[in-house]
Amino acid sequence: MSRTLLVTSALPYANGSIHLGHMVEHIQTDIWVRHQRMRGHTVYLVCADDTHGTPVMLAAEAQGITPEQMIEKARAEHMRDFAGFHIQHDLYYSTHSPETREYAEEIYNRLKTEGLISIRPIEQLYDPARGMFLPDRFIKGECPRCHAKDQYGDNCEVCGASYAPTDLINPVSAVSGATPVRKTSEHHFFRLGACETFLREWTRSGTIPEEAANKLDEWFDAGLTDWDISRDAPYFGFEIPGAPNKFFYVWLDAPIGYIGTFRKLASERGLDFDAFWKKGSTTELYHFIGKDILYFHSLFWPAMLECSGFRTPTRLFVHGFLTVNGQKMSKSRGSFITAGNYLRHLDPEYLRYYYAAKLNAGMDDIDLNLDDFVARVNSDLVGKYVNIASRCAGFIAKRFDGQLAARLHPDAEALATRFYAQAESIAALYDAREFGKAVREIMELADAANQFVDTARPWELAKEESARDALQQVCTGALEMFRLLTLFLKPVLPVMAQKVEAFLDIPALDWRQASAEASLAGRRIHPYQHLVTRIDPKQVEALVAASKELAAPAPAAPAKPEPAALPAVSETIGIDDFSRIDLRVARIVAAEAVPEADKLLKLTLDIGLEQRTVFAGIKSAYAPEQLVGRLTVMVANLSPRKMRFGESQGMVLAAGDGNGLYLLSPDSGATPGLRIK
Ligand code: MSP
Ligand code: ZN
Repeated sequence: MSRTLLVTSALPYANGSIHLGHMVEHIQTDIWVRHQRMRGHTVYLVCADDTHGTPVMLAAEAQGITPEQMIEKARAEHMRDFAGFHIQHDLYYSTHSPETREYAEEIYNRLKTEGLISIRPIEQLYDPARGMFLPDRFIKGECPRCHAKDQYGDNCEVCGASYAPTDLINPVSAVSGATPVRKTSEHHFFRLGACETFLREWTRSGTIPEEAANKLDEWFDAGLTDWDISRDAPYFGFEIPGAPNKFFYVWLDAPIGYIGTFRKLASERGLDFDAFWKKGSTTELYHFIGKDILYFHSLFWPAMLECSGFRTPTRLFVHGFLTVNGQKMSKSRGSFITAGNYLRHLDPEYLRYYYAAKLNAGMDDIDLNLDDFVARVNSDLVGKYVNIASRCAGFIAKRFDGQLAARLHPDAEALATRFYAQAESIAALYDAREFGKAVREIMELADAANQFVDTARPWELAKEESARDALQQVCTGALEMFRLLTLFLKPVLPVMAQKVEAFLDIPALDWRQASAEASLAGRRIHPYQHLVTRIDPKQVEALVAASKELAAPAPAAPAKPEPAALPAVSETIGIDDFSRIDLRVARIVAAEAVPEADKLLKLTLDIGLEQRTVFAGIKSAYAPEQLVGRLTVMVANLSPRKMRFGESQGMVLAAGDGNGLYLLSPDSGATPGLRIK
């Protein structure tokens, strides 16, 4: 029976690059979707960038662009990366869309009508310098338990304690360096507890993996608390209807992005939207997600949908996390590999194959062991699979002008029967997301095909004119097995499969062709074209080296130099001379290197009344991103100076003696524009 499926991967954050951890999810999703399409089902695969929230807002500000510009740039980059890995989205959209706004408002209004939204004041830390409430991650201070310095507002990376940001000792705002103050504002809450009966039932109805359901029981036992769904301005997001200056928290509209994105696709393709999203719809809905976002997808999301007249997901497919060489991805080890960097060094199908070989339906983490990756791809794809074709195709081209025998060699026929018979079980493994088991079965068949060629010895047959028919039948048999292996691997290796289809001159392979009726016997094929190259371990080394380089921290301030001979104090001046210098507190809102000048950084300074551009000779001591957000002192009435790169409208104060260089800063709490006297 033909089914209709809507499938999603989790929406990647717009303020970061796609990396090989994300690719676990997107490759897993894509393999499953391609498999379902090869079964003849109708599948829509949609995804989008998750664009809202404080980090995007601040990152855009630091780059001196609008959030809209930033998310457009990210989306273009993400789409390029996914296309590079052959991920076949029907639409890759954005949560910052009119469609997602419409459904976020609709769902919120429905929840409100149902009495599921409550409003009450809460007290949070507020940055008085920047004028904003601070998310936990933007507050740093001393751990109240172990007294480690420089810990985030939610938990301590040294002792593992978790706490409220208000518990931090000597908290500072990571945005401005100011000391946060407590401030109260009204927040909107979704009353999750009211949905407990529904959620207990839903999470035990086969919609989420058993192991995840057990995790959820812990959450139920702890009690479902109200969920804070609002944030105060300034915030990059959607304003809450009827609540000026209040915005939906990013995690409210993020999953609604699944709906908004499908709405857009439905308009483009003329699809029946309600048949996919309204309560009672008969289509299937699957979300692929990582285990870190299970809470959002198994509690908030189904509750929101259920209580606002939408359908709930058919199933959540939850995967584990990627490790590289057994450890968490690390920038300094060069194992934090971005998708873009991978694609500059290696073929995407190698990684698709390796992940497939490692993936299963469970939530265990999966390890990319780089040595094993090289060995596995070379031995399986080059040594086993493609080897079958490269050993036999030449004879067909040279001796038979591309013409295959009318029947397979009898031994091959017996073996091919095993291939046809196994197709259903391999398909079932794909369906169950047991890709590792599927790959193992496929490679066992590849071994059997190679053994057949070893035994039949076509290169010996080729020496005797009397064995001409046998040679043609042996090669035809081997190529028929190669055709089936290609079909079985097609969800994983779509581009390879396309090349093979062209070489064998056959229509696009799908599961219906896993039978003798579709056999190659009697057909004519094209000359063999090179299909795959071995990975040279040097390519992987180069990738790791490039990843280290991309992630290398900006040069730190040089080690403390020997104190140089200090210059004598200058001659005295009067107070009037001093007061002619207009010194101001300034916030560095943007900083970038001037590529043409080794010493200069271009700073954008906020001095309250206006913004100034200043070129400062401090590049040797500071990386631009270290400076953004911090306060300093500037000479505001220095005459502007024309430089090659633009006009410098003042000067920042730094101490230096040719060795060290130290930018001055006022105590935290000072507001930009304050005059120094
Ligand atoms: N924006 C949210 C998801 C919103 S969905 C409505 C988010 N974004 S994310 O970019 O951090 O992660 C996107 C997906 O990638 C998540 O499913 C996450 O689990 C997955 N992965 C991110 N890093 C990963 C690894 N290192 N390994 C495997 N998957 C990981 O969460
Ligand atoms: Zn601690």
